[in-house]
Amino acid sequence: MIAVIAIDGPSASGKGTVAKAVAEQLGFYYLDSGALYRITAYCAKQRGISELEESRLNAMLQSLFIEFKHHEVYVDNHLVSEAIRSEECGQLASKVASLKLVREALLSLQRGFCRPPGLVADGRDMGSVVFPEAILKVYLTASPEVRAQRRYNQLINKGISANIMNLLQDIIERDRRDQTRTESPLIQLADAHYLDTTALSIEESVSQVLHWFHDSIQ
Ligand code: C5P
Repeated sequence: MIAVIAIDGPSASGKGTVAKAVAEQLGFYYLDSGALYRITAYCAKQRGISELEESRLNAMLQSLFIEFKHHEVYVDNHLVSEAIRSEECGQLASKVASLKLVREALLSLQRGFCRPPGLVADGRDMGSVVFPEAILKVYLTASPEVRAQRRYNQLINKGISANIMNLLQDIIERDRRDQTRTESPLIQLADAHYLDTTALSIEESVSQVLHWFHDSIQ
């Protein structure tokens, strides 16, 4: 059996940073499932497909060649790592992510990341739908204000101007959409460890997840 660590949580909670560091320390593969929904949104926009056209989105996904290599994301051999990170793409991603056919189209792709020696997967439904057999499930969150501040710092460090109140509003809106949709909503599972990183450093969060992982394989 391949060990899977599922880390779910709301947007900008820091789960990507924590999941990547945990994967690195354990020598595991890493799946950024949010990137797949962002790619769907980005490619749909490029092709003039709206978030209401479920079957066109599904057909589009069947034809895309998505690759993650050397910490970069490629679609049909084009580098899209930066382009899919915009706030606009995140908002559109959360709209296409509510569609059943889109989620189904991405399911086998996500499961394909599960290879020995193990996988750390981050998203919204890693523990509930994609890898329900995960050996460790974590629900990682932080207060909306801290998440907005972290996103603000990230953007400013990249030289992108940002407004913290707009970021906070976007985060609250995306949380609501992700938590209230019918298809695979973001929920805190009964068998998931709860990790509130509001007052924790990245190192403290990483070491807590590693501690739970070592406990779970004893
Ligand atoms: O994690 P990230 O913010 O990059 O994800 C973008 C959007 O993709 C989320 O707001 C969410 O709606 C959607 N998503 C999802 N299920 C996942 C990962 C992301 O619905 N497993």
